[in-house]
Amino acid sequence: MKIPLLKVENLTKVYSAGQTVWKGIQFKLDRGEFLYILGGSGAGKSSLLRTIASFEQPTEGTVTVLGTSLQQATASEMQRLRRRVAYIPQNLGLVFDLTVRDHIELTRFSLKSNELVEYAQIKHFLKVMSLESYWDKKVGALSGGERQRVALLRALCKKTDLIIADEPTGSQDFEMTWKIMDLLVRVQLSGTAILFATHDLEMVRRLRKRVGILKEGALKVEESRGGAAG
Ligand SMILES: Nc1ncnc2c1ncn2[C@@H]1O[C@H](COP(=O)(O)OP(=O)(O)O)[C@@H](O)[C@H]1O
Ligand SMILES: [Mg+2]
Repeated sequence: MKIPLLKVENLTKVYSAGQTVWKGIQFKLDRGEFLYILGGSGAGKSSLLRTIASFEQPTEGTVTVLGTSLQQATASEMQRLRRRVAYIPQNLGLVFDLTVRDHIELTRFSLKSNELVEYAQIKHFLKVMSLESYWDKKVGALSGGERQRVALLRALCKKTDLIIADEPTGSQDFEMTWKIMDLLVRVQLSGTAILFATHDLEMVRRLRKRVGILKEGALKVEESRGGAAG
């Protein structure tokens, strides 16, 4: 039987104040699939992605990546799974005192040779995202939109099975948004699945992919469209 890349079962999150953010979340994602998580501000997109990326525990339910449950994984299994996933949090997780180059080199340093995206490819991403002249600049000196592109670049310099991106174009203008979407679609076509949170219905209409709508604590997910077509 084929193991899905990602299986989310009966996922529920209740914060300590007793607020249920989402309940009974359920879906599967295959290799090379693209899924939008579409929802308004406060719908629970970020907490859901953080939980799927293993940086937060659900109150109930399980997230299974490549056949291993994040809720039962040993420390070494967890380490192995995290290598297969790139997560771009909404707050980006950059270090303001380090340069763009430092971020990329540090990421590359932590990878095995078969996990490295070629430097020529990274240079291409830099160019497409208009970051070339910022290579040796500290992240703290960049604009919000530029920082967001650095966080994307860092995710793209690692070969992964899954990219979890939380509103990764939220601070970009129209032109840059579509350059980035084009990059992500190419990465998807190379076999990487993408879980993409957005509140932007217009984007979802323009670039048709499988959609999950997160509303009032429930996620309604479209049927799988099948691999790279999805
Ligand atoms: N760590 C937390 N503690 C308490 N409440 C939280 C926490 N994280 C998120 N929430 C609440 O959960 C709801 C969903 O937040 P979030 O997942 O950030 O939504 P979105 O990304 O869709 O805007 C919000 O009401 C928010 O206040
Ligand atoms: Mg959010």
